[in-house]
Amino acid sequence: MPNRKFVAGNWKMHGSAASIAEIVRIAAAVPSGVDVALCLPSTLIERAARAVPGFAIGGQDVHAEAKGAFTGDLAAHMLHDAGASLVIVGHSERRDGHAEADATVRAKAMAAMAAGLDVILCVGESLAVREAGAAVATVSAQLDASLPPVPVRAVAYEPIWAIGTGLIPSLADIADMHAALRARLVAAYGEAGHGVRLLYGGSVKPTNAAEIFAVADVDGALVGGASLTAADFLPIVEAAQGA
Ligand code: PGA
Repeated sequence: MPNRKFVAGNWKMHGSAASIAEIVRIAAAVPSGVDVALCLPSTLIERAARAVPGFAIGGQDVHAEAKGAFTGDLAAHMLHDAGASLVIVGHSERRDGHAEADATVRAKAMAAMAAGLDVILCVGESLAVREAGAAVATVSAQLDASLPPVPVRAVAYEPIWAIGTGLIPSLADIADMHAALRARLVAAYGEAGHGVRLLYGGSVKPTNAAEIFAVADVDGALVGGASLTAADFLPIVEAAQGA
C-alpha cells in the first residue's frame, strides 16, 4: 500500500509575527488525507504552535548535543519545548553553508529522535555530480552515511541545483533516485524502510506538484518558496490529497 502523502514547508529565513495569520490560513485548510507540516524560523515556532494547536510545526536544524556552550544553537529538547514536533536535518544549505558532514547529520537526527521529534533528513547532489552521471551513487552513499539506526520519519531528496531555481529533474530521474533511496532504506531498516516517507524537494510548485506526486515512491514533498503563502502551498497540498 502506498504511504500517506506528507507535504512539509521549509520557510528558511523568512517570516515574522505578521506571518502567523498565513500559518493559520494554511493550517485551517489542510485536508484530512495528507500529513502537512511547516518548518519555521525558530523565532516563530512557539507562537505558531500556540496559534495552530494540533498542526505540525517544525524546526529547520538542531544541535547534536543536549546542552552546552554552543552560541546560537538550539538543542532538540528546546525545539520540543517550544512546541515543535519535527525538525529538518541535513538540508544542503546547512551541509554546504555550515560545513555539516554526514556524521554530523546522523548525530543531529539521533538527538532529535531522542527528544521526541520526527526527522526529515535531506540528501541531494550538486549539478556537477549530476552532470558527471554520479547522482544516484553519490546520494545513496550520502544517505547510508547520514541515516541513524532507528527509522526517520522522512527522507527528502533535494537536488541542490533544483532548489530555488525553478529547475526540476526529469520525472524519470526522480523515479530512479527514489527507487535507489527506497532500496537503501530497506537495506538499513528492513520492512520499516518501506514506511519512511520519501519526499522530493526542489522547485515544487502548484504547477508541477501533481506530476511529481504521481511518480513511484514519491510520498510527498519538501517545499521552500511555494510554502510561504496559503495561495501557493494549499494547491500543492491538494495535489497530494488527490494523488
Ligand atoms: P524550493 O526549496 O522549493 O524553494 O526550491 C526547497 C528546499 O530547499 O527545501
